[in-house]
Amino acid sequence: MSVAKAKKARPEAPKIPVAEFRKRREKLLAGMVPNSIAILPAASPVRRNRDTEYPYRQDSDFVYLTGFGEAEAILVLVPGREHGESILFCRERDPEYEQWNGRLVGPEAAVEDYLLDDAFPIADVDEILPGLIEGRQRVYTSMGLDEKFDRQLMEWVNQIRSKVRSGAHPPGEFVALQHGLHDLRLYKSAAEVKVMRRAARISAEAHIRAMQTCKPGLHEYDLEAEIQAHCMRQGARFQAYPAIVGGGSNACILHYIDNMAKLKSGDLVLIDAGCELDHYASDITRTFPVNGRFSKAQQALYEVVLAAQEAAIAESRPEQHWNHPHEAAVTVLTQGLVDLGLLSGEVNELIETQAYRPFYMHRTGHWLGLDVHDVGEYKVGGEWRVLEPGMVYTVEPGLYVSPDDDSVAAKWRGIGIRIEDDVLITAKGHEVLTADVPKSVSEIEALMAGRQ
Ligand code: GLY
Ligand code: MN
Ligand code: MN
Repeated sequence: MSVAKAKKARPEAPKIPVAEFRKRREKLLAGMVPNSIAILPAASPVRRNRDTEYPYRQDSDFVYLTGFGEAEAILVLVPGREHGESILFCRERDPEYEQWNGRLVGPEAAVEDYLLDDAFPIADVDEILPGLIEGRQRVYTSMGLDEKFDRQLMEWVNQIRSKVRSGAHPPGEFVALQHGLHDLRLYKSAAEVKVMRRAARISAEAHIRAMQTCKPGLHEYDLEAEIQAHCMRQGARFQAYPAIVGGGSNACILHYIDNMAKLKSGDLVLIDAGCELDHYASDITRTFPVNGRFSKAQQALYEVVLAAQEAAIAESRPEQHWNHPHEAAVTVLTQGLVDLGLLSGEVNELIETQAYRPFYMHRTGHWLGLDVHDVGEYKVGGEWRVLEPGMVYTVEPGLYVSPDDDSVAAKWRGIGIRIEDDVLITAKGHEVLTADVPKSVSEIEALMAGRQ
């Protein structure tokens, strides 16, 4: 087979340019102390039942540094190593395995396609890796996340310890790899933003479809199906997290994923769903009336949440700190609860005593990236992190009135509302990646009025 043909038949290349993965490794290597080594395993497959596995999802740190999607692989970074600093252990090509499960990359192609310095069969890792660790003072690793890998690492280290009398030097320090790596992941590159924008657009269209097809008598899962079908048809086969589709008071259960109930006229439905594209997450929530028209009480609460979300988004710009959007949202929500009579008292004091918490018990957002609740510190040196261009996060305030809350008028009970968008911090301020989905009462009602 010609080289060109062989290349074409390999698994699809990552959409982030391959040189960017090399650049990320170089950055991480530059931050490592001399005489150290970083060791990172691929995600382990997870059994769903008997001999069936969940669809494989590569570990986010691993994919960030390699773009390599296969299981049974280990990335090793050794700063200053003469014969190459980036080394991959991966499965060898295997016609029998590939007959059943599809193509493997193999160590030879891995070097070329993923711009690594060296690659070895994973079957040889016990033989080769102790030699790479030996003599290095510090090991960077993600201990505590994968028991099997932790044990394996200790076995390699013990192998070196057993040879100290022959002059072997086992490592003296084990340091969390995540610290530096997760700081890199927090700042999205232009290529990452491109993928995230596309993921956000696909999810936005999916939410519009759900609004357009919703009607009383459908089930929550019908809307979930619309969302998933649209994302899949755009090439985003997996959701970034299980979709929440909560009709009526199911919207008050924050992590509701049962999605089996019938949708009733007069209720709202809350959909929190976002696709994953090339491993990058999107995360959108919209809440809208099942029959296409908000009731007065629903509209009143909805507009408080929308105003809180807009206030939080308005605080999203460089130099603001991480907690500013949350503080803005809490202020508007608390004021709104007082104005509507769900809380009484002085707004500042109600904020101080967190009196809003029975109605708003979560925070206003989280970092977004390869993981839906992405990595990165929220506080640095005890202070809230200052927002910088390239950071992406969600803004998702809500109000949830328990159906059993008899401290409020009956008309509010069982209403759950959340509005969530994905926001990129830019040099000038911000870009809302998910702005395509309507969120004002009039826009939603107009869209739903036009549905079949
Ligand atoms: N969908 C998960 C979240 O909004 O945090
Ligand atoms: Mn969400
Ligand atoms: Mn979220």
